[in-house]
Amino acid sequence: MTTTDTNSQATDEPVKKKIGRILVVDDEPGICDLLSYELSSQGYDVLTASNGEEALELVKKDRFNVIVSDMKMPKMDGLETLDAVKKVDPDVEVIMATGYGTIETAVTAMKSGAYDFIQKPFSNIQEVFALVEKAMEKRELKALLAVYEVSKAVFTSVKLHDLLPVIIGLSKRILRADEVSIMLAEPDGALKVAAYIGADDDPRRGAPDGRPPLSPGDRVAGKVALSKEPAIIVGPLEKDPRFQGVPSLRRIKSSIVYPLVLENQVLGVLNANRIQSDAPFTQSDMQSVTIFCSQIAQAVYNARLYEQLDYEQLEDKVKRLDDAYRRLEETQQQLLQTEKLAAIGQLAAGVAHELNNPLTGILGFAQLLLQEEGLNAQQREDLESIYKQSQRCRQIIQNLLQFSHRKEPKKEAIQLAPLLEQTLQLVQYEFKTSGVDIIRTVAEDLPPVFGDPNQLQQVFLNLLTNARQAMEGRKKDARITIDGKRQAGKAVLTFQDNGTGISAENLSKIFDPFFTTKPVGKGTGLGLSITYGIVQQHKGTIRADSHIGQGTTFIIELPAHVPEQES
Ligand SMILES: Nc1ncnc2c1ncn2[C@@H]1O[C@H](COP(=O)(O)OP(=O)(O)OP(=O)(O)O)[C@@H](O)[C@H]1O
Ligand SMILES: [Mg+2]
Repeated sequence: MTTTDTNSQATDEPVKKKIGRILVVDDEPGICDLLSYELSSQGYDVLTASNGEEALELVKKDRFNVIVSDMKMPKMDGLETLDAVKKVDPDVEVIMATGYGTIETAVTAMKSGAYDFIQKPFSNIQEVFALVEKAMEKRELKALLAVYEVSKAVFTSVKLHDLLPVIIGLSKRILRADEVSIMLAEPDGALKVAAYIGADDDPRRGAPDGRPPLSPGDRVAGKVALSKEPAIIVGPLEKDPRFQGVPSLRRIKSSIVYPLVLENQVLGVLNANRIQSDAPFTQSDMQSVTIFCSQIAQAVYNARLYEQLDYEQLEDKVKRLDDAYRRLEETQQQLLQTEKLAAIGQLAAGVAHELNNPLTGILGFAQLLLQEEGLNAQQREDLESIYKQSQRCRQIIQNLLQFSHRKEPKKEAIQLAPLLEQTLQLVQYEFKTSGVDIIRTVAEDLPPVFGDPNQLQQVFLNLLTNARQAMEGRKKDARITIDGKRQAGKAVLTFQDNGTGISAENLSKIFDPFFTTKPVGKGTGLGLSITYGIVQQHKGTIRADSHIGQGTTFIIELPAHVPEQES
């Protein structure tokens, strides 16, 4: 029995230049001798067989990278040999040597999975070397591909639960092992079998025989974990003292035990055993294991990190991040609106100011003229019309001025329910004559807010007026529903109507100054921008939700008044 670590030379490994095992199959001893001599001189490890059956026996016991087989042999010919060895080891590369065969036979061989063919007698041995080397490379590439598959599997999931069965399945296939297990290190360092796959190819979690965990330093896996050095074990284990009392392990003919190490920390151990095949594990198997064990270690490490995450905390963080993002978006929206309001406010102030003086003149003169005696009825009517229209102009200008000189609201604690009632009384008559019902449900715990009652009343009036105007064409069931409630430390008021509704395109513009869909003389488009400004000055928000033909809802949120705010 031999135990080696990666630093020492394995028993079956040549020391010379080229690495790999080759099987030469030919019924002519001369050819076998020639190829064996030449290929060995290149550094390869070469075995020979004089017929197909013999070759097959060797392939069952041993692992070869490349087979060079004669095409025409007694009993089992080259094609049959190719088929049979590929069934045992699908990854082995087979080169067909053909002396008598036609090109068609060679093509058939290639179709059946031969790597290439070469003409006998060999005119130039260098050609044979080149072909063998290429076949070796292809074989190597296949091994790398298998390792790549492990890497891919490692990145498909972070959960060990899902990952380990996949990994041991792949390891078993790549290493041509009869059983594979992965042991993971417990917090106290003991190694516990986490996953196992045996002859039935059915990956299982935990040890197959309920084996207790191994203490560090115990048996080979414990020693490997302690020293962080891998081991290849070749030969029957019966007499090995490390396996005393473990009869199930005596069946094993060859083993690789590899530590899963990351950042100098041992996370576990991979065990791969060959039981059926007499072919021992070689250093080239060890190379594959080295690569994919580093992947497995990384996966175990990631999975452990993942398992340590506190999900509730994570969810909470995501939620807070979401909230912060939403607030940021709202603030951005508000900033945009404020900028728009400020720019238009300046313009409006200028225009309003310029118009105010001539308008005062018109109003004054109209008033004077109206006091004149001797006006006929028509003249009086015209003058009254001038006076009324000018007054309307003054109202608009006042609105504009109010909008542009937005004063800091004078603040006091306000109960919203009575303020709303007062406002409704003002519009009651108009609503009644328009046939609009007002329904209100104001919760008793609606908190007071801190602000300017006149300004808030103007907000309610603007919303109510807009709602009434939106329901003008409606024959029946015209209704506005006002709702007030406390929500997350805020007073939330909603004004919902079943009027015309607002198109999606217009909805984004309704808070813009001078945006109106009403005919000239009916609306200036200032109501909602003034409303927006007032709500903003009260540190609140206003938004609208609307569907054409169904109606519109305005939602105002104002911070609840906390008495110390007053100071
Ligand atoms: N409840 C509502 N239903 C349907 N459309 C509405 C409603 N409220 C506002 N709108 C739309 O938003 C536009 C802007 O409203 P805003 O109050 O700012 O101006 P206005 O009512 O047109 O004019 P003003 O209020 O200055 O007399 C309106 O012209 C209308 O198209
Ligand atoms: Mg309006």
